[in-house]
Amino acid sequence: MRDVAVIGIGCTHFGEKWESSFRDLFIEAGAKALEDANLAGEQINAMYVGNMSAGRFIEQEHIGALIADYAGMATHHIPSTRVEAACSSGGLAFRQAVLSVASGYEDIVVAAGVEKMTDVEPGASTDALTGAADREWEGFMGATFPGLYAMIARDYMHRYSLTREQLAMVPVKNHYNGARNPIAQFQSEITLDTVLKSTMVADPLRLFDCSPITDGAAAVIVAPLERAREFTDTPVKVLATAQASDTISLHDRRDISTLDATVAAGKRAFGMAKLSHDDIQFVEVHDCFSIAEICAIEDLGFCRKGEAGRLTEDGQTAIGGKIPVNTSGGLKACGHPVGATGIKQVCEAVQQLRGEAGKRQIDGARYGMTHNVGGTGATVAVHIFGV
Ligand code: COA
Repeated sequence: MRDVAVIGIGCTHFGEKWESSFRDLFIEAGAKALEDANLAGEQINAMYVGNMSAGRFIEQEHIGALIADYAGMATHHIPSTRVEAACSSGGLAFRQAVLSVASGYEDIVVAAGVEKMTDVEPGASTDALTGAADREWEGFMGATFPGLYAMIARDYMHRYSLTREQLAMVPVKNHYNGARNPIAQFQSEITLDTVLKSTMVADPLRLFDCSPITDGAAAVIVAPLERAREFTDTPVKVLATAQASDTISLHDRRDISTLDATVAAGKRAFGMAKLSHDDIQFVEVHDCFSIAEICAIEDLGFCRKGEAGRLTEDGQTAIGGKIPVNTSGGLKACGHPVGATGIKQVCEAVQQLRGEAGKRQIDGARYGMTHNVGGTGATVAVHIFGV
């Protein structure tokens, strides 16, 4: 296996993008990544595109071909593959790109993600997202994603001593970070009161506990480490790529407030990178709902079960804390265009490791981690990066 590096990144602004079509978003992110890597389109050997539900959101399938065509690659006949794993589509697209370069089959590969979610009315987007759960046993019974994560939150709060205020500190921190990220959907800081007085969505989760509905795209370019300096002075090494799965429905889980797929993927990633938790200086986790960040910090092993609320309250997950979490603003403030999120997390990790994260920069960052979840934890991708 060859070592792999990220040589270029590009992200659109995340939000409600009335002025841009699905294909416009992808092209914008891809062009930025090519420019960042000093590459021309004809040097690309393959593309993997994360997308959850273009069929439901914009009534378009065959995304691999569409993207290759509108990227001007149709006449180069390169392989272009859509990767679908619900909200972890981007993380898995990245993993496929890394594996293809590591194996030696392909050399210069684009891993991208794109989703255009705001062109349908809210009921339709909620229903499309429910397709990431078990339609027969959960969706048809009326469960929605906020509802499923509310059950996780209730179970967690019943068993551990997480207070409602501690849970609200997660979005407060993520909005603070998002306000320092030019691509974030929400650019304003909020207070505890903003969260605690916001509209109830699925008890105990309120509006500001939820990630929003978002349009956006992100793209990165990977290459063999030995060739990376042909393109960039600041290659970022992919030290580990891990993926794990679990039951698709929440009720079949061993423990509904521990994501065993996160535990498994995290352990595999640490083993592969030969690093310990103390080496990791920041982590982008999948905070689709505030409770998801609490679970992720623990399931990845950054603290024991039941302790992430206290860690958050003590400021240890903020920039400057022991383990900064979601410097990008996370899914909550940066936004969550589901197929693109896993790639945006990689972009944030690369910016941090290059020292290009501006007002949200972690001083002297050398190692970072990304964690991308599909559904309520049926698919998880974890990556570790280093310079
Ligand atoms: N956080 C903060 N503000 C939000 C928000 C969020 N998650 N979602 C919407 N808003 C704001 C909007 O900006 C808008 O503000 P404005 O009136 O000042 O313009 C207002 O709330 C109403 O927006 P609207 O789009 O009508 O919200 P909604 O009620 O239709 O949707 C949710 C709110 C929480 C139901 C929706 O964002 C949602 O379904 N989120 C979860 C997405 C999800 O499940 N993703 C997959 C996870 S695995």
